[in-house]
Amino acid sequence: MSSKDIPDVNQSRMRISLCDLGQRGYDIETGSGNLDRIGLFLSRFKPCSRVILLTDANVRALGYCTIVERSLSGAGFDVCVESIAAGEPSKSIETAVKLWSKLLAAGIDRKSILVSLGGGVVGDLGGFIAATYARGIRFFQAPTTLLAQVDSSVGGKVGIDLPAAKNMVGCFYQPLGVLIDTDVLNTLPEVEYACGLGEVAKYAVSLDAELFGILETNADKVRSRNSELLKFIVTKCCRIKGRIVGEDEFETTGKRVLLNYGHTFAHAFEIISNFKLPHGKAVAIGSIYAAKLAKRIEMVDNDFVERQIKFHKTIGLPVELPDELLNTINWNNIIEIMRHDKKTEAGNLKFVLPTKIGQCKLVNNIDPKNIIPE
Ligand SMILES: NC(=O)c1ccc[n+]([C@@H]2O[C@H](COP(=O)([O-])OP(=O)(O)OC[C@H]3O[C@@H](n4cnc5c(N)ncnc54)[C@H](O)[C@@H]3O)[C@@H](O)[C@H]2O)c1
Ligand SMILES: [Zn+2]
Repeated sequence: MSSKDIPDVNQSRMRISLCDLGQRGYDIETGSGNLDRIGLFLSRFKPCSRVILLTDANVRALGYCTIVERSLSGAGFDVCVESIAAGEPSKSIETAVKLWSKLLAAGIDRKSILVSLGGGVVGDLGGFIAATYARGIRFFQAPTTLLAQVDSSVGGKVGIDLPAAKNMVGCFYQPLGVLIDTDVLNTLPEVEYACGLGEVAKYAVSLDAELFGILETNADKVRSRNSELLKFIVTKCCRIKGRIVGEDEFETTGKRVLLNYGHTFAHAFEIISNFKLPHGKAVAIGSIYAAKLAKRIEMVDNDFVERQIKFHKTIGLPVELPDELLNTINWNNIIEIMRHDKKTEAGNLKFVLPTKIGQCKLVNNIDPKNIIPE
């Protein structure tokens, strides 16, 4: 196989094994046209009293909800649909209270299944509702953004935001399974596609040299959303994340943290932009800053940084902050924000940094002077 070839993944099923509890695990299935097959896929979890299908207004308007509802009804499920406003503000306690009440009114009980059909907002919120309603009902993920397909739907982190801190209230709650239909990525707005690609590039540069090579040589197909390539990308990223989550479900052994390349910079950039800079783009920019930091402390050479910059540019990702942020950035402020990051312990500035393409490690006690670009 030449690196130009995309490995064939027409329909692909993989199993995530969560190692701490032996048999516990779940399937992730990726392919074209899967939304239509969700009824069949969920049938293995019968008996089920009712399905609550949670989605957002955009996904509903695109007709995906109707396809899923029809497939579930056709397989004999009793389905009720709940739709939330699209966007991050819906990941709130106010929406959660409304949904808990609606579930009660709809007669949802512990034999029911909540299906999240949408991006990371619907997935995180739906998982949180499922984890908490009636002390926990079963939960299933049908992610529809690239970011949700390659990242948020896998691994069981669910939750809502507090006004002062994103993802601050939540828990680990694994789904019954994840069914991914890559066809729905065709309707994603450009900015949402780029956000998903930011996470894809993260996996490639920091964790998987094969993925990096295939993306690097097929950049045109990445930009044109080639269907075969998307199936490969999503399957590969789920496999990478699934393996790491399986080894460190609750983020205690230091393995899961390796999924965070670029994220320490990204979180700080998101905060100084008042969350106008979307997460996936912040990750893309943050990982370039992380690569330059790694060069400053002699973990990688200049060729590595240049190759990553070129890679981002060819697949359509940003490599630098927008001018309005770059012109006003205060690095002391950035370092203060980093010190207060959830993952920082006792002011110890930790970064996931690359050692070569496809490999990274967690580096502790970074000297703040190395964080500031020359
Ligand atoms: N749980 C985790 O491990 C994890 C990991 C990363 C991110 N997240 C969370 O995920 C969220 C971001 O997820 P997101 O980027 O998917 O955002 P999102 O859910 O807000 O979706 C982005 C936009 O795309 C629209 N959309 C969804 N599917 C579409 C489709 N197929 N075609 C056209 N439009 C579509 C949505 O309506 C929305 O407007 C954040 O809240 C973040 O905290 C969670
Ligand atoms: Zn991320």
